[in-house]
Amino acid sequence: MKPLYDKIGGTYDTTRKADPEITRRLREHLQLADKSKVLDVACGTGNYTIAMEKTGLSMSASDLSQEMINKAELKTSNVEWKVADVSNLPYPSGVFDGVTCTLSIHHFENLLTPFKEVYRVLSKGRFVIFTSTPEQMNNYWLNEYFPIALKESAEQMPALSVVNDQLKEAGFDIVGAETFIIQPNLQDFFLYSGKYDPRMYLDEHVRAGISTFANLASEKEISQGCEKLKQDIESGHIENVMRNYSSHLGDYAYVVAEKK
Ligand SMILES: C[S@@+](CC[C@H](N)C(=O)[O-])C[C@H]1O[C@@H](n2cnc3c(N)ncnc32)[C@H](O)[C@@H]1O
Repeated sequence: MKPLYDKIGGTYDTTRKADPEITRRLREHLQLADKSKVLDVACGTGNYTIAMEKTGLSMSASDLSQEMINKAELKTSNVEWKVADVSNLPYPSGVFDGVTCTLSIHHFENLLTPFKEVYRVLSKGRFVIFTSTPEQMNNYWLNEYFPIALKESAEQMPALSVVNDQLKEAGFDIVGAETFIIQPNLQDFFLYSGKYDPRMYLDEHVRAGISTFANLASEKEISQGCEKLKQDIESGHIENVMRNYSSHLGDYAYVVAEKK
């Protein structure tokens, strides 16, 4: 994992930014007063960490990749940044009022060890995860163009039931899950951010910031998929494809757990 994100880290912020609506809901799910101490694990270049700091929280953040943390440190010193594996967090027990983790749990080798670590560093409070489920991903129209990479990507993603089970085993109470549906004005160009703007995937800079393309898809699959997508955009056939993949499951999900 480290080499992948050290590789993506260099250009990650070209297309990856904190989306205001995702940030607003993260903050809401934390249910915390201003100045509360919150940790963002697997923070990447800190886009969501910094957005949450700007909402009045006192933020700490860590990531496995030195390259990602180097980028984060250049943006602000208002956050305490650390290079750390989520399975072995360098913080004393019981020091945080909340913990967040966005778009990262699928990279963890297992969920139980990180969840136990998050539970340990929390005093009491919520752990808010933003992720997607395999069922949601199976309904992304991207499957039509990049089927192998999407299948691998969905297989990497833990099912909601598994996430909940592992949270419970780590000691958490489950508060619930809320689905998130991509809006056309989304600011953070992650995997399904181009749901309404298929042209986005033809841009290599956008693909470079998305691990499914940067890591899982072969060059052959990308070039063939992009060619077919380009033709379907030009002919208008993409509208039918999008309709066929419409789903009631939502595109992403917040999973909220609590240490009482
Ligand atoms: C898709 S990025 C998401 C970054 C950030 N949370 C965001 O939403 O922009 C996934 C991040 O998970 C980090 N990561 C993967 N495995 C990790 C681990 N075991 N411990 C800490 N960070 C990890 C990677 O280095 C990478 O920065």
